[in-house]
Amino acid sequence: MKKIRIGICGAGNIATSMHLPSYEKIDDVEIVAICDITIERAKAAAEKFNIPHYFGSVDEMLAGCEIDAVDICTWNDGHKTCTIAAARAGKDICCEKPMAASLADAKEMYDEVKKAGVKFMLAVPNRWTRANEVIREMVDNGDFGDVYLARAHYIRRRGTPTGWFTDKKHSGGGPVIDIGVHCIDAAWNLLGCPKPVTVSAMTAAPIGEFKTKGVSRWQGNPSPEGNFDTEDSGAGCVRFENGAMILFECAWAINGPEKNGIQIYGSKAGAVVLQDKFKIYGETGGFLSDNEVTVAKQNAGVNELTYFAKYVRGDISEAENRYPIEKAVQMQSILQGIYDSAAAGEEVEIKL
Ligand SMILES: NC(=O)c1ccc[n+]([C@@H]2O[C@H](COP(=O)([O-])OP(=O)(O)OC[C@H]3O[C@@H](n4cnc5c(N)ncnc54)[C@H](O)[C@@H]3O)[C@@H](O)[C@H]2O)c1
Repeated sequence: MKKIRIGICGAGNIATSMHLPSYEKIDDVEIVAICDITIERAKAAAEKFNIPHYFGSVDEMLAGCEIDAVDICTWNDGHKTCTIAAARAGKDICCEKPMAASLADAKEMYDEVKKAGVKFMLAVPNRWTRANEVIREMVDNGDFGDVYLARAHYIRRRGTPTGWFTDKKHSGGGPVIDIGVHCIDAAWNLLGCPKPVTVSAMTAAPIGEFKTKGVSRWQGNPSPEGNFDTEDSGAGCVRFENGAMILFECAWAINGPEKNGIQIYGSKAGAVVLQDKFKIYGETGGFLSDNEVTVAKQNAGVNELTYFAKYVRGDISEAENRYPIEKAVQMQSILQGIYDSAAAGEEVEIKL
């Protein structure tokens, strides 16, 4: 079988700690090239992962080698630059979360992808954890009845990432767009991805940079400007066309307990979902029952990128695409709605 030839955009942490090691475990995929605006990082990754070509920009990579698809692992503002360049060159696209740094950027990406007719998949690994896959199947089978409410949490006590993450120009925002997207998306997915209509939310930045000892932080590369102008935490509720709602809380730094997971409430049963297990709250034999389900531990990153390779090859159809661009833009509209509501201090309509 012919190998899918992939070019990676961005040679930072997520590319070198997750995407490239995952591709090494996937048959029928060949990483042909890597690019980074800091070419030394592309060179170092090319040497470490035996990648034949490295470049200092996406345009040079697209012109300089033969690839079928790009996998975008850049700062959030680079997702637009690289998606548009790849679409215009006729390449299929896997894009790291969040889709973009703003809804306006996401819409431009959507137009270009549609115009070019290329494939696009948003990479949000929570959709590929075994627990979320199994529970989504159970929701689809009607095991929970009508799922009408979800709670989504991703709270770190002192876990603000370093570098560009706190520079709004490159990230688009703080924990809402960075980690809120993981839990809000997982909850939205289990609600069946209904159309979002309004958001009421707050964001705050009471902690900022800190000197707390004994904590670990995700290391982003420095942005050229070195700004620190994002929120620390966000909370609110998203209302959907079908009457369902998500209540969410996310924080990079907050004075409270750490929490990461989602909870769904349905008319027949509810569930608390963690990474490799979930607990179902229902009734058995007419009595209240709590059943803990442990699923096989799997590498969500490998699952996600295996799925992308199959999608590019045509083994997964457009209709089956687990994270198509239409849904990616809707998710970005939720994130934008959160920031708009926080700025306005009131509930806002989600506009697309
Ligand atoms: N799936 C996850 O769980 C997860 C975890 C962390 C980060 N991420 C996402 O991965 C992306 C990268 O994060 P990171 O932690 O690897 O950051 P990073 O700073 O370690 O790496 C990003 C790299 O992209 C390069 N870059 C920026 N703009 C570029 C452009 N236009 N063209 C080419 N290269 C460009 C930077 O020079 C940098 O080397 C972000 O979108 C982030 O949200 C996802």
